[in-house]
Amino acid sequence: MTATTANIERVVLISGCSAGGIGHHLALELAAHGCRVFAGVRTLSKAQALADNPRIDVVELDITSDASVDTAVANVLAATGGRIDMLVNNAGIHSAGPSVEAPLAQVQRVWDTNFMGVVRLCRAVAPYMMDSRQGTVVNVGSTGGYVTTPWMGIYTSTKAAVHAYSDALRMELAPFGVSVVVVVPGCIQSNIVNNYSDTLPDDDNTRYAMARQAIEEKTVLSQTPGATPTSKFAQVIVPKILRSSPRAYITYGHHSSMIWCMYYVPPAIRDYFFSRWFGTHQLAKDLRTPPLSAPIAYSISVCVALVAVMLGAFYALF
Ligand SMILES: NC(=O)c1ccc[n+]([C@@H]2O[C@H](COP(=O)([O-])OP(=O)(O)OC[C@H]3O[C@@H](n4cnc5c(N)ncnc54)[C@H](OP(=O)(O)O)[C@@H]3O)[C@@H](O)[C@H]2O)c1
Repeated sequence: MTATTANIERVVLISGCSAGGIGHHLALELAAHGCRVFAGVRTLSKAQALADNPRIDVVELDITSDASVDTAVANVLAATGGRIDMLVNNAGIHSAGPSVEAPLAQVQRVWDTNFMGVVRLCRAVAPYMMDSRQGTVVNVGSTGGYVTTPWMGIYTSTKAAVHAYSDALRMELAPFGVSVVVVVPGCIQSNIVNNYSDTLPDDDNTRYAMARQAIEEKTVLSQTPGATPTSKFAQVIVPKILRSSPRAYITYGHHSSMIWCMYYVPPAIRDYFFSRWFGTHQLAKDLRTPPLSAPIAYSISVCVALVAVMLGAFYALF
C-alpha cells in the first residue's frame, strides 16, 4: 500500500475553489486520489464544474465572515459524522503597489482574507482534528512569504504571516497527531490577477508616478507566459500533502526555486537584484537619489569570504 492509497476516503475541506484557480484544481486532484472533497466558494456558480464530480460537494464559504466559516464547517461535520481529515486554506487575494501608499481599507481587506481567513478556518476545524488525534492542515503561502519584492509589501506580508503562523501551529498541533504543511506556489496560472481590481493612485496623489509602468508590469508577474499550469501544480502537490508524514514546506512552480534561493542571499544583494528587476533603481536615477552602493560591496565581500571558509572547511574535512 502506498502512502497515498492509505488516505482513501479522507474528508477534505478547501477554501477558494472557483473555476480556473489553484483551489479548483486541488479539489479535482484530491477527488481523483479518492478523497471526499468539500469545495468552498463564495459564489456557488463559480464551481459548477466541481458540482458534477461525485466525490465533490460544493459549499458556500466566505473566509472573511465568522458566521460563514462556522456554518460551512458545521455543514461538513454534519455530512461526515464529525470528520474533517484535511483542511486546505487556499483562498486568497492579490495586492500590489507602493506599500506606503496602499489605502488602509485595502490593507485590511487583504489581511482579513489572506491571514485572518486562515486563522478563522484553523480555529474552526483544528479542534476536531486534535480530538481525533489526526489530520492535516495545509496553508497556501507564497514565495513572497520567503522573500518580498518592491510593490508587493502588503500581499507578501500576509503570506509571511501565514508561514510564521503555520510554523507555530506545526509545533503546537504535532502533540495531537495533526500535521501542518505550507504549500508555497511560484507563478501559477490562475485568476488571481483578473480578480484584482484595486487601482494605483493617480499621478497627483502618488510619489511613485515615474515608476507607474514598472509597477503595472510587476502587478501581473505571477501570470507570466511561463507560469506553471494549475492542473500540473495540483498533480505535483496533492500526492505530497496526502503523505502520512508530509514535509513542512512544499515549494513548487515557475520561479519558485530562484526565489527560495534568494531567501539565503544577504539582503543588500537581494535589494540590488530586485531594485533593478522591479524598477526602484531606475526610480532612484530619475529622482537623482545617490545609489546605496556601500552595503553591496560589503555583502559581496562577506559572501566571498563565507564561500572561501566553506570551501576551506570542505577540503580540510574530506
Ligand atoms: N497564482 C499564483 O501565482 C500564486 C502564487 C503564490 C500564491 N498563490 C496563492 O494561491 C491561492 C489561490 O490563488 P489563485 O492563484 O488560485 O487565485 P484565484 O484564481 O483568484 O483564486 C482565489 C480563490 O480565493 C477565493 N476567495 C477570495 N476571497 C475570498 C473570501 N473572502 N472567501 C472565500 N474565498 C475567497 C476566490 O473566490 P472568488 O472567485 O469568489 O473571488 C477564488 O476562489 C491564494 O492564497 C494565493 O495567494 C497564488
